[in-house]
Amino acid sequence: MKTANDIRSTFLNFFGTNGHQIVESSPLVPRNDPTLMFTNAGMVQFKNVFTGAEQRPYRRATTSQKCVRAGGKHNDLDNVGYTARHHTFFEMLGNFSFGDYFKDDAIAFAWNLITKEYGLPTDKLMVTVHSSDEDAAAIWRKVAGLPDEKIIRIPTDDNFWRMGETGPCGPCSEIFYDHGPHVAGGPPGSADADGDRFIEIWNLVFMQFEQTGPDTLIPLPKPSIDTGMGLERLAAVLQGKHDNYDIDLMRALIVASADASNTSPDGPHAVSHRVIADHLRSCSFLIADGVLPSNEGRGYVLRRIMRRAMRHAHMIGAREPLMHRLVPALVTQMGDAYPELTRARALIVETLKLEETRFKQTLERGLRLLEDEVARLPSDGALPGDVAFRLYDTFGFPLDLTQDVLRGQGRAVDEAGFKASMEEQRRKARESWAGSGEAATERLWYELKDELGATEFLGYDTEVAEGKVTALVKGDARADSAAAGEEVLVIVNQTPFYGESGGQVGDSGVIFTADGTEVTIRDTQKKLGAVWAHVGTVTKGTLKPGDVVELRVDVERRSAIRANHSATHLLHEALRRRLGEHVTQKGSLVAPERLRFDISQPIPLTPADIAAVEEEVNRRILLNSDVVTRLMSPDEAKGQGAMALFGEKYGDEVRVVSMGGRDAGANKEFSVELCGGTHVRRTGDIGVFKVVAEQAVAAGVRRIEALTGTGARTWFGGRDALLAEAATTLKVRPDEVPARVAALVEERRKLEKELSELRRQVAMGGGAGPAADGGAKEVAGVRFVSRIAEGLPAKDLKPMADELKKQVGTGVVALIAVNDGKASIVVGVTPDLTDRVSAVDLVRAGAEACGGKGGGGRPDMAQAGGPDGSLAAAAIEAIEKALAATVAA
Ligand code: ALA
Repeated sequence: MKTANDIRSTFLNFFGTNGHQIVESSPLVPRNDPTLMFTNAGMVQFKNVFTGAEQRPYRRATTSQKCVRAGGKHNDLDNVGYTARHHTFFEMLGNFSFGDYFKDDAIAFAWNLITKEYGLPTDKLMVTVHSSDEDAAAIWRKVAGLPDEKIIRIPTDDNFWRMGETGPCGPCSEIFYDHGPHVAGGPPGSADADGDRFIEIWNLVFMQFEQTGPDTLIPLPKPSIDTGMGLERLAAVLQGKHDNYDIDLMRALIVASADASNTSPDGPHAVSHRVIADHLRSCSFLIADGVLPSNEGRGYVLRRIMRRAMRHAHMIGAREPLMHRLVPALVTQMGDAYPELTRARALIVETLKLEETRFKQTLERGLRLLEDEVARLPSDGALPGDVAFRLYDTFGFPLDLTQDVLRGQGRAVDEAGFKASMEEQRRKARESWAGSGEAATERLWYELKDELGATEFLGYDTEVAEGKVTALVKGDARADSAAAGEEVLVIVNQTPFYGESGGQVGDSGVIFTADGTEVTIRDTQKKLGAVWAHVGTVTKGTLKPGDVVELRVDVERRSAIRANHSATHLLHEALRRRLGEHVTQKGSLVAPERLRFDISQPIPLTPADIAAVEEEVNRRILLNSDVVTRLMSPDEAKGQGAMALFGEKYGDEVRVVSMGGRDAGANKEFSVELCGGTHVRRTGDIGVFKVVAEQAVAAGVRRIEALTGTGARTWFGGRDALLAEAATTLKVRPDEVPARVAALVEERRKLEKELSELRRQVAMGGGAGPAADGGAKEVAGVRFVSRIAEGLPAKDLKPMADELKKQVGTGVVALIAVNDGKASIVVGVTPDLTDRVSAVDLVRAGAEACGGKGGGGRPDMAQAGGPDGSLAAAAIEAIEKALAATVAA
């Protein structure tokens, strides 16, 4: 038997051998279509290649594309489990020609593959073509030799394939397999075509047009090919099964579900096992592609699918959470074909487990309430909308879960009533903020949030995505357009731009439309925690609500921000390990050019602390281990040792970011933090880490500033240049600079000492040694010694005066040092004279003579300063005169 895995590889290899590039499946969250909830066909990733807007290095491609049909326009969720061919997740095999081959080759390839490679009997096959497409009918006749009754012309849109309201499209031709007369159903186009006998297995679309409006088709640059074949359907046919859920891959998952719950895969629980098997696939692949359960948008679709599966797990009697235990079986089946599944395995297991654990708490109570309510209804009565809403609001029952429960009883839910209750709740919420006295701008954001819902953030996984403009704001008011030159806030339904929060700055970049309108975005703000406002200026054209736009984040800037954010986490933990557990985050700023991190820490970090922290962070960077993000309940996060962010409020679930590797014997990663920011994939992406400043910002709070990546490299480059400059000046090699500088400092210290000694000697007595009496002269019978010394440090004057006093034995000493043009004056009086002569009076006379006043000290030693050192000689004279006057008096 050919397994589903064999069938997939046969397909890809067949087209690979025939000149097609084997391209990876694109993610389930489309990057290039704002109106599409999930990727639902193989051509989605090639949409812009068909229209010529995007170029790829190949003109033929083949893929096995992951598809989800739930929640959007194509929603198969309700039927899954009950039918043979509905899935929320399936794989679409396809081959594509971008203006290369057209109908002839497409039909020949398809026919050869299914009849020769897969060996399907030709008499079991028939095809349809669009009634207007005689070309295709002729090719089928020629290539496959099919008789005319097996080439069915379909006049309707069934054979004109459209991607959606806009996008590439064209007539198509479908290949059908006939399961045989024992199955009820008529051929395509007949009244009972919906039966199970004739099953469509492959759709070949002859892409020729682009739909640009409701009635506008423009020709594509070149006719192209897009085909799609559901792997599960094909496998069913090739494995002789009628039901997709009987193929090997699905059966393995069903058996895993039965084993894990100790039940039989068939029998009374068959439907539940099918639901679980299908939902396990969609949930796991969505989580692997970055969708996490939430109450909005894609996250809510995921939650709905998860909870629906969890209700079925509950029905088959699983007491413990079940879904996460089936992930190994899924990885065994599909991990080789889709490595992203293996990579995200831990995240998938944890997310499923958390959701199921939490939902279990309300599921049973909700089901009991539902049972009670139903008991009161007439036998065919629909469940009132307000009850369905209570289940939704209080017990977390998505509407489709309630509908699924009641389906078995043939009961409906009053959907209009449900919507009315929902609207009523919104109205009340509106009233509460409308009456809350908020300012007009604040009210505007409440209004926008209420009307538009939360913006979906795609930026954890991508930096480029398409979005639809849902509103424009100019000043404090909504606007119908924004023209070139105008400042505007742009609101879109989904965006890769990060809105400023948690210390991380908002993204900048550009938003543009296909027809050339361009808006430069300089910042992104998150309003009311939900509505992303892109702050910018229109540079070209005119932007309007409803426009489909491409949003491009400034990638280089974002990479730098990511590196700084991840480095902040590593720094935080490194600081705690070095300084102690008292270190907590007091604030942070994560910008592209640097990071700033404030911590509670009473004393400055020593250079050794900083060096140790830098060393630790850089070591973790070089380990280059994965940065892992998980969603958890706040309690579980704390249980895992996550450090809470400063001042944030947390909802039911938190993102937990771990990084830095797990040390031997440790029970957690180096760093585990609650964080909504964007991070590097592996720590090595940070490059290098350098602390450039450490200072106090408030009592008990130290601020550390650091650089990473290019910022750090530039900083090191700058330091290197400074060293080179110093080396050039010193005329040594850079590595000799420290020794040379140390030697120069030592030399200078010695020289200063020598110089000071020399000056002192000169001042004391002209270098020939002091005279025995210190060179005194007599002033009114008192010995008077004076000196003027250029450049002698002022602090040397007093010791010198003491020495001279000793030398003269009895008398007065007046010394003036002149430095930088200013005079410092010291007068000393020997003790035997202090009752007659005061040093303070004399020094004051000297100071006045050179422009100063005052002076202070004791009768035996006083000092003063004078601004004009050129009058030093006059000052000595003044002192001498004052001495004479004092003695005479
Ligand atoms: N794009 C085509 C489909 O989805 C092949 O059926």
